[in-house]
Amino acid sequence: MKAKITLHREFSIGEVDKRLYGSFVEHLGRCVYNGIYEPGHPQADEKGFRKDVIKLVNELNVPIVRYPGGNFVSGYDWEDGVGPVDKRPVRQELAWRTLESNKVGLNEFMDWCKRAKTDPMYAINLGSKGPDAARNIVEYSNFPKGTYWSDLRRSHGVADPHNIKLWCLGNEMDGPWQICHRSAEEYGKVALEAAKIMKWADPDIELVACGSSNARMPTFGSWEAEVLDHTYNHVDYISLHIYFANREDDTPNFLGRSLEMDSFIKTVAGICDYIKAKKRSKKQINLSFDEWNVWFHSNQQDRKIESWQEAPPLLEDVYTMEDALVVGCALITLLKNADRVKIACLAQLVNVIAPIMTENGGPAWRQTIYFPFMHASAFGRGTVLLGPVVSEKYDSKEYNDIPWLETVSVFNEEKNEIVIFAVNRSLDQKLNLETDLYDFGKLKVIEHITMHNSDLKAVNTSKEERVKPENVSGSKVENTGSSTKLEALLPPASWNVIRLGKE
Ligand code: AHR
Repeated sequence: MKAKITLHREFSIGEVDKRLYGSFVEHLGRCVYNGIYEPGHPQADEKGFRKDVIKLVNELNVPIVRYPGGNFVSGYDWEDGVGPVDKRPVRQELAWRTLESNKVGLNEFMDWCKRAKTDPMYAINLGSKGPDAARNIVEYSNFPKGTYWSDLRRSHGVADPHNIKLWCLGNEMDGPWQICHRSAEEYGKVALEAAKIMKWADPDIELVACGSSNARMPTFGSWEAEVLDHTYNHVDYISLHIYFANREDDTPNFLGRSLEMDSFIKTVAGICDYIKAKKRSKKQINLSFDEWNVWFHSNQQDRKIESWQEAPPLLEDVYTMEDALVVGCALITLLKNADRVKIACLAQLVNVIAPIMTENGGPAWRQTIYFPFMHASAFGRGTVLLGPVVSEKYDSKEYNDIPWLETVSVFNEEKNEIVIFAVNRSLDQKLNLETDLYDFGKLKVIEHITMHNSDLKAVNTSKEERVKPENVSGSKVENTGSSTKLEALLPPASWNVIRLGKE
């Protein structure tokens, strides 16, 4: 099979916002407790944070982490998680039917963020709580001193404000499963009032309004329009969430799911612009894809887990090779829409539908999906180049015209590097990729990284990394005048990163 890409240094759709490589830590299952935090573990630091987990997070280079939920946040009282740890209440956590000890709260999470070299994206509770609790936590975390909440923070041993810049106005408020779910009108009104007073408390913050929980929600479209009609002048982003599943074991269809993500993004961008026109506004609302991943492997197992335990092993999907391809296609889709998607969070970071897994008292290890995320985060920074792609296409049960080749390129001017990300969706055929590059000067191949496995269901464990990237030789370039021709071979069902630099 053959495919062709044409790239020119002026085919830029815009800069990648580094927050595209965000992730998510929810008080859910073993994400916080026995995930990032496990006092008594041989790798725990003086605060109880696992250093082996932090090392893997650092390797992923995650610039923002959404916290503390998720569905959890809609029943959460942030005040339970601050102050002396031994005085914090244990609560029934209604979203996931577990027990929440509150041993980790805002200040501990901020400590962890420093160690993980990341910034927080803090979600407030607009379910069981409301604007008042929201403006209080902004004052607690961002006001320097001399007020009730800022001095309370100081009395908790945190002299300097956290200066949290990015805030989510609740979580998935369109979903009937949400604690105190609201209609679009109810949510739009409460989100507006929360946004106003949060920004009055700190005008430097940015706010994300809740969009639809997924594009298959019955209210999708009308929800975004109504919420933005209320909040347009007071928020900066609207959220999108998507989870991919392969319940019918139909891999060609599963690999096409990123097309749905793409049209979801384009539709939401269109709705934002419709409200912009309606309001005769000059302001653009950008998108925050603040939950995305593959999630289905653990569904059956989770039904058997007893309620009201602390940190039960919920949502512990073990990812396959084909899941890594879907994650690769999703990363490419986010990059292809980098002009509009400024924030994205892989849900989640540790143990819960996560690239990083841990054993209680044991090792931390990398799932298959860890690698495409790591590559995109490491090499996908700069300007997104979107040129014509010629690839044959196929139809699946749910999607038409799925290109065999999924690809995007990023030009990093500082490093003088062009990086081609590519997935070969064909399960049985190699793909001969030809790329014509114009106006980049003489180029050479720095490396061609590929990840594939003849067993699409291959997984990693704490003992064995069956799925991991390798470097391949054989990709060659020919420089003639101001153009370069690259020829590369992509194995069947493979994730590829081809890095080109100055000769
Ligand atoms: O990430 C798991 C859950 O998925 C989150 O808590 C919720 O927001 C979404 O439905």
